[in-house]
Amino acid sequence: MSSKPRVLVTRLLPPDVEARLRRDYDVDLNPTDELYDSETLLSKAQNADALLILPSEQMSADVINRLPERVKMVATFSVGFEHIDRAAAKARGVIFSNTPDVLNDCTADMAMMLLLAAARRAHACDQILRSGGWTGMAPTWMLGSKVSGAHLGIVGMGRIGQAMAKRARGFDMQVHYHNRSRLPADLERGSVFHEDASEMLPLCHFISMHCPLSPETRHWLNAERIALLPDGAIVVNTARGPVIDEAALIHALKSGKLGGAGLDVFEREPQVPPELVELDNVFLMPHMGSATLETRNAMGFRCCDNIDAYFAGREPPDRIT
Ligand code: 8YV
Repeated sequence: MSSKPRVLVTRLLPPDVEARLRRDYDVDLNPTDELYDSETLLSKAQNADALLILPSEQMSADVINRLPERVKMVATFSVGFEHIDRAAAKARGVIFSNTPDVLNDCTADMAMMLLLAAARRAHACDQILRSGGWTGMAPTWMLGSKVSGAHLGIVGMGRIGQAMAKRARGFDMQVHYHNRSRLPADLERGSVFHEDASEMLPLCHFISMHCPLSPETRHWLNAERIALLPDGAIVVNTARGPVIDEAALIHALKSGKLGGAGLDVFEREPQVPPELVELDNVFLMPHMGSATLETRNAMGFRCCDNIDAYFAGREPPDRIT
């Protein structure tokens, strides 16, 4: 019988991550990447000492309370942790860890890509070209919005928001931000803080969401706040779908209030409203912010670091409960 701790891994992970897990633990992997519902997860967890999960697994109070007594360490392969009932985890003494920092650059790259793609009508142009509809360059055809010199409003100036600000500055954008608190000057780097979002929104030609999903941020960008944006503004979301009221967003895109959107996340993933799919002024990605091999490896190794620390009797570095 193996003396290594047993780790249940709920999804298929990159080969180097699985190799490290296999080397150090007695692992129960998921080679077919089938989704585990809560009952399947709980039944598989009966043999485990620790879990490595994803946001695809809902860690409700009920699930946490029904985990076997000896499962006291759960690493989530994500920076976001809205799928975890942290109060229940704390009450039961289950340590959860996440994967901060390692996905800042790739997620901010995705946000910048969405911003540029929406500003320059990439989806519509690509479609016209591929469908044979391009009849030649014309000076007034398919004009987009200039990014340089435009104002970007960042909602949530955490690590990913700051990485986005850095990219936007590289494109000569003027960065404004709304955050729970003002950043120190060395992190702010010239960005303009707005304690009151309603003062920031009228200034923003572009707005990019970077806040975590919480009861306070659910539907943060709603019809009322969209109305405060200048006409033709462009909305970018790489955070979580529900931080935007999707119905209000679709309405504003259809009415022409908003000029476009670049979206990597949606309210009811993997469902995307057909109305959104039909709009040619939106650029859509299927939740790919952290999807590079380098970043997914780093996320996996970060999960391993936390699990290793737990079994070595040390404090997991990215403990969130
Ligand atoms: C994916 C993310 O959920 O880290 C997060 O919070 O949203 C993304 O990185 C994660 O990579 C799982 O696929």
